[in-house]
Amino acid sequence: MGRLQGKVALVTGAAQGIGAAVGRLFAQEGAVVYLTDVQASPREAAPAGVEYRRLDVADETAWKSVVSDIVAKHGRLELLVNNAGIVEHYGQIDATTTEAWHRVISVNQTGTFFGMREVVPVMKKNGGGSIVNFSSIWGSAGAGGAAPYQAAKGAVRTLTKNGAISYAKDNIRVNSVHPGIIWTPLIQGQSEEMNAGIIAVTPMGRSGTPEEIAYGVLYLASDESSFVTGLELNIDGGYLAQ
Ligand SMILES: NC(=O)c1ccc[n+]([C@@H]2O[C@H](COP(=O)([O-])OP(=O)(O)OC[C@H]3O[C@@H](n4cnc5c(N)ncnc54)[C@H](O)[C@@H]3O)[C@@H](O)[C@H]2O)c1
Repeated sequence: MGRLQGKVALVTGAAQGIGAAVGRLFAQEGAVVYLTDVQASPREAAPAGVEYRRLDVADETAWKSVVSDIVAKHGRLELLVNNAGIVEHYGQIDATTTEAWHRVISVNQTGTFFGMREVVPVMKKNGGGSIVNFSSIWGSAGAGGAAPYQAAKGAVRTLTKNGAISYAKDNIRVNSVHPGIIWTPLIQGQSEEMNAGIIAVTPMGRSGTPEEIAYGVLYLASDESSFVTGLELNIDGGYLAQ
């Protein structure tokens, strides 16, 4: 308890799944938590006292408004978790429309950029902060299909390292988390055949839980990781060890 005591945190894509689990854990560890999502209201019960705001991460004006509200109220923002993400298009490159490409990039990649661009000046004023970006095993290893998702998650991986180097002297740490298959509504919406195929090539032979990801995010957000920046934290049942 108290690993994030008093820190102000914004988590995107937090109406359900991994983002909701991160919000619960952050609140349990003493953070002042702002859950945000493109959905108007949370799908999973949020802990008492946790704030919820609508935020489409692909909308830069919405970012400005949410971050300025938080700063107006608390005067600071120390933690950003860029968790919002979509797969939506499972096709290979030659089956990906331009519209599908831009849509998936806008949420996963541009949304992460907007979030970092908005909070870095606040964190500089705070004297530091921690940003955790969501990539994926598919940000590091190839998969057949889901071309725009793979491209975006790869970009998040290197944008994270760019931020880590750019802001190291400002005491702003930037790290990425790379989940393997995690049992959330995202995965529950995929075919059983596809999920079974991914589990079959996961050394631990099972999917992970949102909480198993949230504990990794907690470490990167907390001062326990004060010398860690530019890290790729794989939480994947051994997938990327192969
Ligand atoms: N579940 C997995 O197996 C897995 C694996 C690797 C990476 N990830 C990544 O983890 C993150 C969380 O995934 P999840 O499994 O919890 O997914 P999920 O679909 O269960 O939850 C994602 C949340 O993001 C929100 N969202 C979608 N578009 C948004 C937008 N434009 N602005 C704000 N919010 C938006 C959704 O409403 C939803 O609440 C994503 O970045 C995903 O790519 C998940």
